[in-house]
Amino acid sequence: MNTQIIKPSLMDPNHDDFLRAGVLIREGKLVAFPTETVYGLGANALDGNACDKIFEAKGRPHDNPLIVHVLNPEEFDNYCETDHPLFPVLAKRFMPGPLTIILPKKNTIPDSVTVGLNTVALRCPSHPVARALIEAAGVPIAAPSANLSGKPSPTTAEHVIADMNGRIDMIIDGGCADVGLESTVISLKDDGIHLLRPGFVTYEDLLTVTDQVIISPAVLEMLKSTDRPESPGMKYRHYAPEASVTMVSGREEKVIDFFREKLSKGCGILCFDEDLELLSANHPNVLSFGSKYDLASQANRLFDALRSFDRIDVKEIYARQTSTHALGLAISNRLLRACAFKQIEV
Ligand code: TXA
Ligand code: MG
Repeated sequence: MNTQIIKPSLMDPNHDDFLRAGVLIREGKLVAFPTETVYGLGANALDGNACDKIFEAKGRPHDNPLIVHVLNPEEFDNYCETDHPLFPVLAKRFMPGPLTIILPKKNTIPDSVTVGLNTVALRCPSHPVARALIEAAGVPIAAPSANLSGKPSPTTAEHVIADMNGRIDMIIDGGCADVGLESTVISLKDDGIHLLRPGFVTYEDLLTVTDQVIISPAVLEMLKSTDRPESPGMKYRHYAPEASVTMVSGREEKVIDFFREKLSKGCGILCFDEDLELLSANHPNVLSFGSKYDLASQANRLFDALRSFDRIDVKEIYARQTSTHALGLAISNRLLRACAFKQIEV
């Protein structure tokens, strides 16, 4: 398949590029597009056959449901039950933006989107290109992250091209994603908010709305094979480069000594900007993912750094542990998955 790659300069939904992209979506084709979190791989959410193509293009397991993207929270009511008392408060505070809410579904949403579950995940992206595409399409857009299944989510059009060129109909290049990690996923239950996947909307942000916020144990711990995941995506190894990754904790000097030793044995090192100097900054096996004092930069650069290791010939990667507070919880969650929860203390 020939993949058209477009780079619209205007965010106008009536711009020719968006009109063409909107027609593709309505015809049941696949279009990758930027959002404020990561790039998504979109199809008409009301067309089950179109959504089936997403699973094929990504090699996505058929039991992992998709997020539906709409322009405004007022539209949720067409697709799910919105009578939970926290819904209007969350919508007002965080939408449009990087928050996905799981609610009981209505039957306007085909089973291909929800893989037969009785709930559906919805969000309103704030990125102007994502919004122009949804508006031009005139239908809700189902979209997982636009990576091959198991790879780190794409934060640039180049990442999407590497994974999806020839597999989908169009890629809209909107530059680098702002946040760099996928949206916060929550479900609303009788006992409050369940945080299933942390993101830019943090646990602490959610606590400003209610004190009833429960962090799913799967956020920082490996699910046991007997546990039933609250979200199917929790089961899978994610964000993983080809080499095996181990997270390293301990006193800073000890971690740096350990990194030096592993580097001398040809391993890869994923560290903070501040560590580069200590580790001989120009070594090709050393990549940093941001300043240790700047969680936003770590979030923004983590997936690109993980992808970059696939271009380097290393079998093992050792990674710095980061904070689990605020945005650090989301970064730690993705890193732990990239590590398949392998951690050592030095
Ligand atoms: O930022 C994002 O959320 C990006 C952009 C494109 O919007 N999308 C994204 O989608 O990360 P995806 O498919 O890679 O992750 C969606 C997660 C999966 O872990 C999936 O299992 C979970 O949301 N999910 C979707 N629908 C669900 C449902 N009804 N119940 C439980 N979990 C659900
Ligand atoms: Mg994904």
